[in-house]
Amino acid sequence: MERSKMLNKHWDSIFADKKDHQLGWYEKDINQTLKFIDTTINFSVSNHTVFLPGVGTSLLVDELIMRGANLILNDISEEALNKLKIRINKISNDKNKIHWLHHNIAQRLPINIPLCDVWIDRAVLHFLLTEDDINGYFQNLHSFVKSKGYVLLAEFSVYGASKCAGLELHRYSLEEMTERMGIDFKLLNYENYTFINPSGNSRPYIYTLFQRQ
Ligand SMILES: C[S@@+](CC[C@H](N)C(=O)[O-])C[C@H]1O[C@@H](n2cnc3c(N)ncnc32)[C@H](O)[C@@H]1O
Repeated sequence: MERSKMLNKHWDSIFADKKDHQLGWYEKDINQTLKFIDTTINFSVSNHTVFLPGVGTSLLVDELIMRGANLILNDISEEALNKLKIRINKISNDKNKIHWLHHNIAQRLPINIPLCDVWIDRAVLHFLLTEDDINGYFQNLHSFVKSKGYVLLAEFSVYGASKCAGLELHRYSLEEMTERMGIDFKLLNYENYTFINPSGNSRPYIYTLFQRQ
């Protein structure tokens, strides 16, 4: 089976088998992400478009809806998107504000996707292992983030676990992240942050916030 389809099935079965709070990356308190975006983005000033490349069933979505953001919600797992839709439809059924997308983020995004002001990735990029996939991800990011737009990447750090969800990971240092983002993007802030997962285990992440120049 083609790798993209295999991954699709892999993630679908995880989201079908587990309740949200049983997922290893489940985050009830999303303040670590909000802390970064709140230092830079004032959602009440304009209608920001936020792109989430592997949204899963994250509670960040509910918060961004409350803030009036336009959202592009992507995932390789249709199961995750369907679960999220059921939850989100209870708080927002404004079809003009939410664009759903079922796509492998390592592959070129469709051209009809709106450009975004903010790209927020928690625990997605680190699943891409080959140079082709990693380059594909960054090409998408470079094509879809507007000038002056922000990018928050929160991935397992070099001190983090080598596997998650049964998959090998590519862990990131600040240096590698900065190099891969390229000279168009200025590093505004970063933090080594240890997430304690629902089983009580430490999961060291690196959070990096960039702005396009
Ligand atoms: C560890 S979970 C994190 C989910 C969410 N960002 C969060 O913080 O709760 C990784 C997510 O990325 C999705 N994913 C993994 N590989 C992907 C890919 N190549 N393209 C798009 N989504 C992907 C998975 O289906 C899953 O929803």
